[in-house]
Formats: sequence, C-alpha cells, structure tokens
Amino acid sequence: MRIDVVTIFPEYLAPLELSLLGKAQRDGILQIRVHDLREVTTDRHRTVDDTPYGGGAGMVMKPEPWAAALARVCADGPTGQRPVLIIPGPGGERFTQQLARELAQEPWLAFACGRYEGIDERVYAHAADHLRVRTISLGDYVLNGGEVAVLAMVEAMGRLLPGVVGNAESLVEESHEDGLLEYPVYTKPASWTRDGVTREVPPVLLSGDHGAIARWRHAQRLERTAARRPDLLAPAAAVGALADLDAALATPADLPELVVLTRACWVPEAAASGTFDFPPFTDGVPELTASLSEWTTYVWRAAGRLVASIRVRRDPEDDRVWQLGRFMVAPDLQGRGIGQEILTFAESLAPRDVSTIWINTGRVSERNIRIYRKAGFRLAPWDSQVHPATVDLIKSPRSRADKG
Ligand code: ADE
Repeated sequence: MRIDVVTIFPEYLAPLELSLLGKAQRDGILQIRVHDLREVTTDRHRTVDDTPYGGGAGMVMKPEPWAAALARVCADGPTGQRPVLIIPGPGGERFTQQLARELAQEPWLAFACGRYEGIDERVYAHAADHLRVRTISLGDYVLNGGEVAVLAMVEAMGRLLPGVVGNAESLVEESHEDGLLEYPVYTKPASWTRDGVTREVPPVLLSGDHGAIARWRHAQRLERTAARRPDLLAPAAAVGALADLDAALATPADLPELVVLTRACWVPEAAASGTFDFPPFTDGVPELTASLSEWTTYVWRAAGRLVASIRVRRDPEDDRVWQLGRFMVAPDLQGRGIGQEILTFAESLAPRDVSTIWINTGRVSERNIRIYRKAGFRLAPWDSQVHPATVDLIKSPRSRADKG
C-alpha cells in the first residue's frame, strides 16, 4: 500500500518510521511519502494561510498551495492510478475499525493535514473533481491539526495489511474487531503482591481447559462491553424497538423481578401443555442465581420496570454451539418488534468460531416457533436435548459481512 501525507509539519510524521510500520516500510509492504505543503508555495514567505472571508478568529489554509500539492502527489503515481484522498477533521465521518478495514483494501491513500481553522472549502470540491475524497474524524474532540489523526489512522490500517502483524490470530480477538471489547490478559507471576495486596490470575486461565478458557474469555468480553461500552452491545437499540429500553447485564438484584417476568411469559406455554412442571415455573431466585455464572443474562427495562430478557452462552458440551435461552418480552409489550431485535442482538454476540445458534421452546408453543422461524431458525432434526415436551431450533450464524 502506498500512502502520501501532505502537511506543513513533516517532522510530525517521523514516528511512522518506528516499530511495526517502520518494518513494514523496510519490508516493502507499505510505502509512506511525507510532503511539505510549503514546497509548492511560490512567495518569499512560503505562505499557506490567510484571513477568513466574513471575519472570525484564526487563519484559513489557501486553496492554491493545496491544489498544487495534490496535483504533484497524483503526478508522481503509477499511470492511470489515483489515490483516495483523506482529509482529517473533526467534522468528518467517524474513524472506526470497520473504516480502517475498508481503507486498508485501497492500494493508495493520500492524506491532507489541515491546520489553523481549516482548509478553504473549495479545495474539497476541486479535489472531488479528480479523486474520491473522504473527510474523517478521529472522534468528537478538536486536535490542532490532522497530523495526529493521520498517525492514528495509518497505524490502525497498516497493522491490518498482510505481513505487518506477525501473528495474524492476534488481530481476531481484539477490541472492536467483532463489535466487542477484548478480554483481560495476564502474565507471570500467577500470584502478585504489591503494597501488601496479593492479586491472583483467574484460576480458569491456569486450568489448561481450553473450552473453559474460551467460555470465560468470551463472557469477560461481553461483561466488559456491557459495563464500559453498552452502546456497542446494542447498536440497533439506538433506532429500533429497543430504543426506549435500558439494556444491562443481569445482576442478583434483578432476579426477583426476573422470576415474575418468567412466570408471566411462560403462562401460555403452561396452558397449552397442561403442566406447570418445567424450569421456567419451578426455578426461583436460587436457581437463577446459579444461572448467572453459567450464562450471560441480559435484561431490558422500560421506565425502571424489567420488561425483557435473554441469556446466552457457549454450549458447555459443544463449544461450536451458541445457546440462547429464557428469551422473554413482557406480555403487554409483545408484538412491537422488541423480541426480534433481542434475538438479533443475542445472535450477534456469538463468537466467530460458532457454527450453530441454538434455542429451545415448548413443542406446543406455536407463537414462539413462528417467531423463531421468522428469525431464520428451523426445527432441529433430532429430539429435544432439554425435555420431550420441547423442541430444539437451530440456525447458522449470520455472516459477519451481513452485520455491516
Ligand atoms: N483535526 C482536528 N481535529 C480532528 C479530529 N477530531 N479528527 C481528525 N482530524 C482532526
């Protein structure tokens, strides 16, 4: 990949020579050229800015040096090729891992680093006549110029290029790669004392049980994401039927209400099957307390009232199966699309290596079966793994590409 950066502070980009990106350049995976915008100026003072029309604070970057610099960059490339031009700025689209992945596919990127109050707006229009132009922001804060943003973007993209990060696997389970934050990591010693406090590595990591370690790590990713970035867990919630509900990981304090909601939601199934003798009716707070360490349970509240829940986990007997359970929406709120979004959300939490999503419901629960079928589940071609009065439903995970 080739990268050109135009700036009035070329020295700012020196760190691109270091570490993995420096090595990638020496290995020929990445070619980075940094250009001084002032080189194309024609006046004695090498002027690149002037006062803003209409008044106001600060200075604005003049159009002509930018047009000349961009023309020079383009002229220096392989014939017929043009770079994608990225202009960093706080008013741009948000830079994300997804965007890093997308841009890492481009053979040639050029960055235009603005300073002062920004670049004359006509430069954007002029550049768009010749190039694909994207204005990209690092986040909702203001930097002094685009250079730091270029460092961040080039590093995020560069490490995705094949051969840059030695162990490609280490790219997979990182924060944001699949929408979740990463799990906590530990190294030796297993027991560490400082200031009179001893802190242990979680015993599961010393157990040698790879299945248990994978389950623990995935649960940690879910918990961290729910605690630190709940917005990542349910992006659809911002616009859809979940928009007015507050999502949270279930805690022991939720369990009495969860018992009541479970009973209310399973009444139709009890009526249809003629028995109350199944776990959603017989489980009380003690059973649900135990379940909190076996499953990751989510609850949704409307104006403080617990109105929906689902729990998820890897099947302890088959790591490749992602189980959904106790899927419920308060009877008075059913039929509004909340359930569909919760199902989509629970599926989206499945680890990448899962091959089957699994859910179980009463054999006579026609309504549930209808909802699951609509969500792409089909009846499993085997007898229920839970109880003869129930059926298993399965589906393949949505491909990551579907999730955008
Ligand atoms: N230049 C100034 N602020 C910026 C930001 N937040 N992102 C990218 N470039 C910038």
